[in-house]
Amino acid sequence: MQSLLDDLQTVMDGAFQPSHPGSLAHLDPPPLTASIAAELICAGLNNNLLAEELSPGLSNLEQQLCGWFCSRLGLPEQSGGVLASGGTLSNLMGLVVARSASVADNGVFLCSRDAHVSLQKAAIVMGLPAEALQQLPVDVNGTLSTVSLEEKLQSLKADGIPCHAVVATAGTTVRGAVDPLEDIADLCAHHGIWLHVDAAIGGVFALSSTTSWLMKGLNRADSITLNPQKLLGITKTSSLFLVRDKARLRRAFATGLPYMESPTGEHHGGEVGLQGTRPAEVLKLWLGLRQLGENGITAVLEGALDRRRLLMQHLSSDDLELLSGDLHLLAFRPRCSDADQSREWSDTTRSRLLHAGFLLSRPQYDGHHWLKAVLGNPHTTREHLRQLADLIQFDLPR
Ligand SMILES: Cc1ncc(COP(=O)(O)O)c(C=O)c1O
Repeated sequence: MQSLLDDLQTVMDGAFQPSHPGSLAHLDPPPLTASIAAELICAGLNNNLLAEELSPGLSNLEQQLCGWFCSRLGLPEQSGGVLASGGTLSNLMGLVVARSASVADNGVFLCSRDAHVSLQKAAIVMGLPAEALQQLPVDVNGTLSTVSLEEKLQSLKADGIPCHAVVATAGTTVRGAVDPLEDIADLCAHHGIWLHVDAAIGGVFALSSTTSWLMKGLNRADSITLNPQKLLGITKTSSLFLVRDKARLRRAFATGLPYMESPTGEHHGGEVGLQGTRPAEVLKLWLGLRQLGENGITAVLEGALDRRRLLMQHLSSDDLELLSGDLHLLAFRPRCSDADQSREWSDTTRSRLLHAGFLLSRPQYDGHHWLKAVLGNPHTTREHLRQLADLIQFDLPR
């Protein structure tokens, strides 16, 4: 037992620490206590969301919680969803469901240049040719250009090429930009095209009345990816795939489960999504949300936005090019740097910050290396942010 504990300690010593106040690199916040406890209980129960008879209460809880999310987001009565082990899977389901709802099966998907790489993975898994996922330009604020989208939809129509779906992003990975959801929804409605919104990052902002304006238009989506793991502190993995019409899920994924009893409730969990056997990830989501409560959810969301605004105020826009949207992500690099200089600056600055107890990430974007802070860590104080800004600006090339 002692040697086992020693080995476990070694593994734990080598782990990334999301609870450290300087942990600001990615969308991996500190876990909520209730969510950790639920994870343990979930393992103890060892239920299986594949089929109702293997998880009677938890299957029901999942359907109810998806319904709660749908109603918070303003989706209609017939909406619903399923939990998934991460946003990559939810996005894959988004493309699969959109294609299954389409009359043709050889069409294209449109998204912005800044959309997440998981869409490319989805296209690979679906066996699509490279040209089936077309990336459109973004405007200066990093959001999908609706002018380009309109032009592309017109030219596809003229060429007789079907479009299975437009994928809008509500919170891009590098700068947290939110595509103009209302305008995109109008275009999709006009052309009769499925709208999938990858709201893996931004979707949770729809949960609070004080931040829901950031997700205006999300309720017009046909399907949505939303990841509570990215900001709310629900232990990984926690993603939801929500659809405007839940009958679409069965249409895309139902195979029949001849080795199971028919469900007495709505459906088997294994017939409304890609995964078969899967854990009851709903438990940690439900318990985590209950721990936070309405006020706690609002505090997490507003706290993240406040920290981003504060860090932005501390950074000089004369010396740094700042990239952000309305959410809690902020990327920056020295204004007067070419590609080599920004690579070198971001590398040395990242190391200096790490020595001082701050972990930032170093994404590549627009031909440059940037430093990126994700301000979703509630342990990061105002004083930490002031200190961080001083360290960032200590040695800027001018
Ligand atoms: C916008 C966006 N969508 C989807 C994903 C994929 O989510 P996951 O890492 O949970 O698979 C990410 C991951 O960072 C993301 O930023």
